[in-house]
Amino acid sequence: MTVRTPLIAGNWKMNGSTQRTQQLISSLCSGVADDDDRIMLLCPPYPYLHIAAEALKSKAIMLGAQNIAMEPDSGAYTGEVSGLMLKNFGCEYVIVGHSERRALYGETNEVVSNKFIIAQAQGLQPILCVGETLEERELGQTQAVVRRQIQKVIDSAGSAAFSSAVIAYEPVWAIGTGLTATPDQAQETHSFIRSLISEQDATIASLVQIIYGGSMKSENAKELLSMDDVDGGLVGGASLNAEEFLAIFQAA
Ligand code: PGA
Repeated sequence: MTVRTPLIAGNWKMNGSTQRTQQLISSLCSGVADDDDRIMLLCPPYPYLHIAAEALKSKAIMLGAQNIAMEPDSGAYTGEVSGLMLKNFGCEYVIVGHSERRALYGETNEVVSNKFIIAQAQGLQPILCVGETLEERELGQTQAVVRRQIQKVIDSAGSAAFSSAVIAYEPVWAIGTGLTATPDQAQETHSFIRSLISEQDATIASLVQIIYGGSMKSENAKELLSMDDVDGGLVGGASLNAEEFLAIFQAA
């Protein structure tokens, strides 16, 4: 049986302040051992990356960003932040294709797959978010939607690209709503995602971390994380509370 390292990632979204960043990180650091066999990852907003990077120096917690520019080189792209800059700040990961970016900022599967490629070219591990809306689920389209979202990246980047990427299954109806997919619902889609990668490359499929996101909290984390194909969590709201986030981490 393949052992995949559990990954618990905190997506702070547009929340926080300088002080809050320092407080949260200092509370979290006490709960993560240097030789922990799970990975904790924090994705604060851009302006706090520097403070976070300083606070995490020589700590076992990893740093990531929530978004990345589609352009590989610096230039006239007002408001954008490049992968190179994120690397400079000490980021190892970047979230791409979060449903909020797809829905609110018009990111298509094409844009998302470009960002995925740019991230890897800069040495960042993309966390590719996929997931269906409630309407799509009710119409029985969950697998078709997820297949399209992943297939676009396979077509553009190749299946081998998933040897240095993470996939986050985040049903849109569960994000920030308090509704969580049941462990069986999560497992069903996670195993479907793994089978999609396996159609291309069984080894990569067995190694890729597939994490769950959508109202994960301390009270439901253990059950979700105990499913065979759930390798961690992408946590929004609950990652802003050190106690909650540490409890989820410990459940992994
Ligand atoms: P949530 O967000 O945990 O607040 O539902 C998860 C996410 O959007 O990544």
